[in-house]
Amino acid sequence: MKILVLNGVNLNMFGKRDPNHYGSETLEDINAALFELAKELKISVETHQTNIEGEMCERIHASHTDGSSAIVINAGAWTHYSYAIRDALEILSIPIIEIHMSNVHAREEFRHQSVFSSVVKGQICGFGVESYRLGLRAAFHAVNQLKSS
Ligand code: DQA
Repeated sequence: MKILVLNGVNLNMFGKRDPNHYGSETLEDINAALFELAKELKISVETHQTNIEGEMCERIHASHTDGSSAIVINAGAWTHYSYAIRDALEILSIPIIEIHMSNVHAREEFRHQSVFSSVVKGQICGFGVESYRLGLRAAFHAVNQLKSS
């Protein structure tokens, strides 16, 4: 099983962003934690980060044919307004888990809306790096559920 973990705009700057919301770990630290968990779950994980919206859409398109069984996505601020990424996700038939480090519902009003919510299986937010681990476990669980149904 391969799970694709996608990170969007400004998330390469984790480690330099407000530690109250995002802690001090870098994206490399987060990816390392995911590769560790992937070993435990006996799955493979591929990670991709981009600050370019069209590139994110193209990476999502590529997941139709690259053997991905599920997607975990933290799209950063795109979550709140990118209909292009939302529409790219909608075309997929594999489970999609939306995650955020911070509790977006306890922050500014514009962060309360996710334009992805109707096309994802579920959302996880507010647990810092643990949101990523929980997201990977949720994706793993969703794929196994599909296999056994
Ligand atoms: C974020 C939350 C978004 O509102 C914000 O724009 C981000 C990071 C998070 O992980 O908490 O860049 O997705």
